Amino acid sequence: MDKLNTQNWNCNRDENNFIWLTLDKAGSKINSLNVEILEELLYLLQNIQTTASVAGLVIQSAKHNNFIAGADIEQFNHLETPDAALNIIQQGQSVFKVLADLPYPTVALIQGHCLGGGFELALACRYRVAIEDPKTQFGLPEVKLGIHPGWGGTVRLPRLIGGLKALELIISGRALTAPSAYKMGIVDAVVPLRQAHRAVNHFLLNRPKVRVATWVDRITNLPVIRPILGAWLERKIAMKVNRAHYPAPFAAVLNWIENDIRAEEAFAYEANSISQLMMTDTSRNLVRVFYLQEKLKNYGKIDAATFNHVHVVGAGTMGGDIAAWCALKGIRTTLQDQNVQIMAAAFARALDLFKKHLKEPHQVKAAMDRLMPDPNGYGIRNADLIIEAIVEKIDAKKALFAVLAREAKKEAIFATNTSTIPLEQLSADPKVLARLIGLHFFNPVAKMPLVEVITSDIHDSEVTQKGMAFIRTIEKLPLPVKSAPGFLVNRILMPYLLESIWLIESGIPPTAIDKAAEAFGMPMGPIELIDTIGLDVCLYGAESLRASLGGTIPQTVKTLVEAGHLGKKTNQGFYTYKNGKVIKQTIDKHYRLPEDVTDRLILSMVNSAMACLGEKIIPDRDCLDAGMIFGTGFPPFRGGLMNFVAESGEPLLLQKLNLLAQRYGERFTANSGWNVVNGS
Ligand code: NAI
Repeated sequence: MDKLNTQNWNCNRDENNFIWLTLDKAGSKINSLNVEILEELLYLLQNIQTTASVAGLVIQSAKHNNFIAGADIEQFNHLETPDAALNIIQQGQSVFKVLADLPYPTVALIQGHCLGGGFELALACRYRVAIEDPKTQFGLPEVKLGIHPGWGGTVRLPRLIGGLKALELIISGRALTAPSAYKMGIVDAVVPLRQAHRAVNHFLLNRPKVRVATWVDRITNLPVIRPILGAWLERKIAMKVNRAHYPAPFAAVLNWIENDIRAEEAFAYEANSISQLMMTDTSRNLVRVFYLQEKLKNYGKIDAATFNHVHVVGAGTMGGDIAAWCALKGIRTTLQDQNVQIMAAAFARALDLFKKHLKEPHQVKAAMDRLMPDPNGYGIRNADLIIEAIVEKIDAKKALFAVLAREAKKEAIFATNTSTIPLEQLSADPKVLARLIGLHFFNPVAKMPLVEVITSDIHDSEVTQKGMAFIRTIEKLPLPVKSAPGFLVNRILMPYLLESIWLIESGIPPTAIDKAAEAFGMPMGPIELIDTIGLDVCLYGAESLRASLGGTIPQTVKTLVEAGHLGKKTNQGFYTYKNGKVIKQTIDKHYRLPEDVTDRLILSMVNSAMACLGEKIIPDRDCLDAGMIFGTGFPPFRGGLMNFVAESGEPLLLQKLNLLAQRYGERFTANSGWNVVNGS
């Protein structure tokens, strides 16, 4: 067999009798593994097994920048029973076993993403050769989908590099660059592209000894050591996530503790464990989150516009960090502020950001070169996009847009980062309004993936498209939101934050309130969140929402602001802070939280969410869920706020809401959005 092609694989034999299997998934820009591709691979391997004089095998990809990105999530998403899941897992395991058992050397030649099932396939080869390329990355990100590796990853990786290092990769889901993977003992060589064939020939012809874990790493796999290290790993995971909410990393550790990874049974254990995990609500919801993220990405078509130069006005908390992020992502950025000291502080923060994200000093220097101080605003004339992030004062912003209208080039678009001011009020000039959108970033800019792209009838849809394209260019997630008070995220979050203060006013300890929210899955309790945002900022946001939507604000927050207790930044808010660390009161062990506390918190959000849907502030429920997950950290394992509503049952939640309205008054009255959403 010199040539034996299938729909997705090309198979060639070279002059050394080496077989080259090249994966080129039909109809797709990237390679991902599905049942057909695995069946074809098995068919090819079985043919190769019976072919005389084969001396070695290479697996590579025909796709640019992508070896294999993992398993095809779409196919796994539709599995209904643990048995169906087990079948597909066992299929992959048995194909990879045929590959691993071939009697001659095998090489995975890897350029681009080598993730999940793709990484497991590479682990089943005797050698791995990585091409020098920043896109070449190794990782097992399965925990992000609520599962752990299932095609031998939890067995072969601990065998190769020791259990502790392997588990650290599996439970974090983080990706490694090629040099880091080499250092860790995962790949056998990292070479420039031009030397790829030479390197492959070296391994296949000379058959050097395979890399093995160091003795220290091997010790971590010993039966007496595993339970001790395993318990330590479990404690480490439990500090970050709740086992009931995210069982997968705990299951991966348990597999390792309970199994001798040298034994074949370890594969069966892995298969059983993952097929159970695939049936959990957590996994289904995390897959949903993956699709939500894809949906937001698709809003921004990068080729809709080019951004060579961005000018940011306002170098404070937001503007400084937005400018630094743009420069980090490769855009020439000028930063303007009337206060030179604030500019200096922004540049110091930018340097920290670049050092954290960029490995090489020359890359840090290049990023610093891209970010230019521009106190006089010379950059306005050349910028493709001008982002306004000055103080939240309407007159100051209006005056600035008048200047921008005079000085900016005609094609440039304007953006405002305002949290509260409707776009229409930022200029009286329709020509300015036609090119103005809101780009509402969240604080801290570097950590929050979401940007609300605020749209209104006053500008062309082309300007919105460009805004979305810009957000994708800087690798954030654009969410289209109609211009309305609080937009989406703050409109939903604010009633929840205020409810937590009403709870304090009814005598419930802040620590207990935060605990209830955290038990629901929120990354941080609402009281600590208010302290972190700043009580003054929250009060300002609450007052501006009240001005348009009505409602009352609890007195406590006003009293604390008047007293200068603004939260973490002043070391005193609802909690006290020492060296930046929160000090929380302990709760008496006999204290019993009223049973409706979680409902009060969560239904405050649900009620506002219904209003947003009713007012069509966002296109649909999926967008709302995406906004809450990526903009507030709403627990991903719940699949979003509206997914929580669907899972809990709308009639039941409405009933609870009505009960809360009877107990606590008007703020819990179901708004008209409930009727609209339910089509009545
Ligand atoms: P900030 O007070 O930290 O920074 C504002 C900066 O603008 C100051 O450095 C000030 O010197 C400068 N400035 C004021 N007028 C100027 C002018 N005419 N020309 C040049 N510079 C001028 O404010 P922050 O927090 O960065 O907020 C900026 C905008 O972002 C506001 O519209 C705010 O509503 C919005 N926002 C704030 C968030 C936050 O968490 N702080 C989150 C999302 C949006």
